Amino acid sequence: MNMRALLLFLAIFGKHTMTQSIDRIKEQRFEGDSCSLKSGGTGICRKASQCRESIRANELHCEFAGNEPVICCSLAPNATFDSSARIVENACSTVRKVEIKIKIADHAVGVVEEALVGEFPFMGLIHYDDNLTRCGAALISDRFLLTAAHCFKNSKPTTVSLGTNQADDPMADNFPIAKIHRHLGYNRTTKQNDIALVELRSSVTMNSQIQAICLHTSSIDLLESVNLTLMGWGRNNTDKLPNSLLKGAVNPVLRSSCQARFTTGGHSIKLTEKQLCALGEKNEEGIATDACEGDSGGPLVLRQNNKYYLVGVVSTGSGCGDENYAGVYTRVASYLDWIIARAWKN
Ligand SMILES: *[C@@H]1O[C@H](CO)[C@@H](O)[C@H](O)[C@H]1NC(C)=O
Ligand SMILES: *[C@@H]1O[C@H](CO)[C@@H](O)[C@H](O)[C@H]1NC(C)=O
Ligand SMILES: *[C@@H]1O[C@H](CO)[C@@H](O)[C@H](O)[C@H]1NC(C)=O
Ligand SMILES: *[C@@H]1O[C@H](CO)[C@@H](O)[C@H](O)[C@H]1NC(C)=O
Ligand SMILES: *[C@@H]1O[C@H](CO)[C@@H](O)[C@H](O)[C@H]1NC(C)=O
Repeated sequence: MNMRALLLFLAIFGKHTMTQSIDRIKEQRFEGDSCSLKSGGTGICRKASQCRESIRANELHCEFAGNEPVICCSLAPNATFDSSARIVENACSTVRKVEIKIKIADHAVGVVEEALVGEFPFMGLIHYDDNLTRCGAALISDRFLLTAAHCFKNSKPTTVSLGTNQADDPMADNFPIAKIHRHLGYNRTTKQNDIALVELRSSVTMNSQIQAICLHTSSIDLLESVNLTLMGWGRNNTDKLPNSLLKGAVNPVLRSSCQARFTTGGHSIKLTEKQLCALGEKNEEGIATDACEGDSGGPLVLRQNNKYYLVGVVSTGSGCGDENYAGVYTRVASYLDWIIARAWKN
């Protein structure tokens, strides 16, 4: 059906009929996924016991968790604006806008391109004593960067460089690390809670090349049409690690369809609402835009009104750029309290 036919269909049958036909073709949704309310608004899938008003309104089912239905729950007007979100948004109000004219990596192809100078002033590179390990991190305050827990295994992190797009920039500002705060619930098998904070020994002075990023506060799934940007000094389909910071455009992938792939063989992980999936389009070689080795801990960001919001942290996946396996990210909005308790102690 083309667009005009669809509009005509809507005009004839009205909204109610349309909603019902969407219901029939909708995919199963899991707890934490976004869903459509009967009113036409967006809700979030929650266990029925946590959403009494939706039972009364006879809202749609998302799935069953055991015997308990998971239903489409409306969001109270202030549901996404609790006290943690308020702290985070206050911090964001002091973040300077990035007024750089950019072309977000062309969305039509699954390729990456080099980031512009100053495009991502929050982007940090963690250096290790073995000179081999590579992880990204995002500056969230003048003292802390957010990254992945799995970035801290055997090699010792030493410094973080900020304000440069070059991995081996001799002029880069290298900030010594005071402490790594790894999430105590991190599980390397299940990949849950793959999040960590890097605490610097001293405060960073913000300038046009070094700026913190805002944290995304909404735990509602982003629509699949939202354009997100991924960046890192990770592998780009070759064995060589790039020296320049690369960026790519990706879109959110519904958790239920993402999960469906991660159920076989060695790739069996159970995704939760504290993770999200994203993948970009394929290039001529059939490789989808995705994070790869060396991008771990790096940011998945949303750009709105010239400010960047940290939506995800590069966590895991299956290979790189396989169209069947989206990249898996730790969902930042699920960890606001954990982050605030460490990075904004006062
Ligand atoms: C939502 O929060 C704002 C700011 O705290 C408050 O003024 C408003 O009354 C709240 N609205 C509801 C429906 O609770
Ligand atoms: C990334 O790799 C592809 C080949 O797989 C290559 O065509 C492209 O130029 C590379 N991009 C950058 C920015 O290095
Ligand atoms: C890593 O690089 C630094 C600076 O180039 C050098 O001093 C150090 O010996 C290297 N360490 C290893 C383990 O190669
Ligand atoms: C990680 O999760 C697996 C599966 O739930 C569990 O068996 C294991 O004990 C967990 N490991 C740690 C270190 O918590
Ligand atoms: C995402 O990017 C594509 C291509 O650049 C554009 O056509 C589309 O409107 C963008 N979507 C949103 C929600 O901004």
